[in-house]
Parts: sequence; C-alpha cells; structure tokens
Amino acid sequence: MVQPDTAPLNIYHALPKVELHRHLEGSLRLTTMLDIARSHGITIPASMLRLSGLVQIQDQDPLTFTNFLEKFKTLRLFYRSPDAIHRITREAVEDAARDNIRYMELRFTPVALSRAEGFPLHEVMDWVITSSQSAAKEFNIQVGLIASVNRHESPDLAEQVAWLAAQNIGRGLVGLDLAGNEAEFPSSPFVGVFKEARQAGLHITIHAGEWGPAANVREAIEVFNTERIGHGVRVIEDDAVTALAAERQTIFEVCITSNYQSGVVANLGRHPLASMLNQGIKATINTDDPSVSRITLSHEYQTANDLGLPLDVLKQCLLTSAEASFLPEAKRTQLVARLKKELSGLK
Ligand code: ADE
Ligand code: ZN
Repeated sequence: MVQPDTAPLNIYHALPKVELHRHLEGSLRLTTMLDIARSHGITIPASMLRLSGLVQIQDQDPLTFTNFLEKFKTLRLFYRSPDAIHRITREAVEDAARDNIRYMELRFTPVALSRAEGFPLHEVMDWVITSSQSAAKEFNIQVGLIASVNRHESPDLAEQVAWLAAQNIGRGLVGLDLAGNEAEFPSSPFVGVFKEARQAGLHITIHAGEWGPAANVREAIEVFNTERIGHGVRVIEDDAVTALAAERQTIFEVCITSNYQSGVVANLGRHPLASMLNQGIKATINTDDPSVSRITLSHEYQTANDLGLPLDVLKQCLLTSAEASFLPEAKRTQLVARLKKELSGLK
C-alpha cells in the first residue's frame, strides 16, 4: 500500500466511497517516483526519506500554500514518457479502488503532464484516458476524468485543454476545473473558456475560497455559474455568500487535511466543515492530493468524524457526492441507488 501510516480495515474503509476531488499529480507513489527517476535518469535524492521531503508535506514544513504548491514543481519532473504517465494513472486508480472508493473523479492537468518532455496535449490526454479506463475495469471502480487548468498559467492553453476535453466527452472526460494559485491570480481571464466548455457539454468546478476570500466563491457561483466548488471553505467568512451557496445548493468539494496543510485553517480541530453543513451548505469529503498529504479518503472520513460529524452525517455526505457526480444521468442514478443500498446495510 502507498500510505503506510493509514489504519487498516475499519468502518471508514468499509464505507463504499465516492471521491470528487483528487488530483492525479498529487497521487504519485514514492516508490514509483524512485523507479521513474532511475529509469529516466532524473537526478533526485535516492532515498525515500529525502524524496518524501520534496514531494510530501512533513511535520516540520511551514503550513502555507506556497510550500504546498512547491511540491508540485518536483512532481512535474516525473512525467517523462508515455509509460510513466500510464503507470502513474493506473496506480492512482488502483490506490483508490483499494481504499474502497466505488466512483472517483480524477482530475489531471494536461499542461503539467506535457511540460517535462514537450508532449502534445492531445497525446497526454489520450494516455490518461486510456490508462484510467483500463485500470477502472481491472480494479472494478468507475472513473470519470476532469481536465484541470491553472489560474497561474495562460488562458490560451486553458482554451486548448477545454477544447480537447470536450472532444473526449464519452471517453471518460466529464468536466473542466480551474485550479492553481488562487491567492495571487484572478479567475476572470478564464470566464469565457468555462462558458464555452459548459456549452460544449462539460461540467465545471472551480477552486475558490481556498487561498482566496469568500468573494471568490460568490464569483464562482454568480459569474461562472459553477455546479461545484473546490474547497470553498472560506465561504463562512461571509454570511451573505454562505446564504447564497446554501440557496443555490452549490456542491462544495471539501478537503480537510489539505486545508490544514496549506494554511487555509490554522487549527485542524476548528475546520469549518461542520459549520458549513449546519448552515445548509451541500458539502462533500475529498482528499485533494493523497500522496502530497499522505492520506487516504478513508482517513479523511475518520478526520471528519473527529471533527464531530457522526456516521449518519458521513453517509449523507457520501450520498451528496454520488448525487453531485458528473456522470451521465442514468449512471448517476445507478450509483446513488447502489450506494444507498450498501450504506443502509452498514451499521
Ligand atoms: N493543485 C493541486 N492541489 C491544489 C489545491 N489544493 N488548490 C489549487 N490547486 C491545486
Ligand atoms: Zn484541488
């Protein structure tokens, strides 16, 4: 297993889970990084321990978004060949299946995967689609793909990614995501791209209210007309935006440990998830970057329980995830029905 510090089989593992917010680039196994480094001549520290310091959050790390994003600079070194990308994708799907995730929306950043070797964007997208769909069959899990574009990168590239993603609806591509450095880059240059993506049949989700204020959540809802928001936890800093989100029933993809590690919340025990739910916000529980954070989705459910959410609320969050998935309607209905049945049998 990838995450050695995670508890083995327990109630949280036993929950049949749905993951809506997981980045492929934050899901690499350390052992795989070392293998790829060896076979592709990449100079990185040869020991797991030293490599871990570069790509995973450590106890002594500063809990800031800059430190968190810094890990992705090293992670970008490993996308050196179609085989490497195939392996990374396959293992991300395998790890999710082993954590008893039944449906996962895996997001990936084509621009990041193409950078190291200058691979064409359409080829990178094709590799991730092919590998994820064959791994989904192999490991008996359903996988939908979301293409991510970063705010700190060019809107022209985002447009290309959105266009390619739309071409691949029906081959596993279900959505488009705006990610990256929210603290220093606005989302306004991307409004047109996301509008067109929506018209082309892609679902959309926007990282907002993570490293930026509640006003960004309002913008995501009112200007982008987004269906889901990545994180969004800073919504609780503004009562009017909280009320707006609750009224619109916008889905929040909450990632507790990531929020703590990247400085969104100063104290893990004071994470606002319970307060968001109490104020009528539709929240789901997700990992964000399981390898960077050294967690599993089961671990995040356990953490939510530690925050005071009882099992029946956790089950409700799971159903919200299934209902908010970007699957085509018939498949979504099937997933919800299957989950309801299994959850009702779990005491
Ligand atoms: N890319 C990977 N993790 C991210 C996060 N938490 N916020 C924005 N972009 C990301
Ligand atoms: Zn994210």
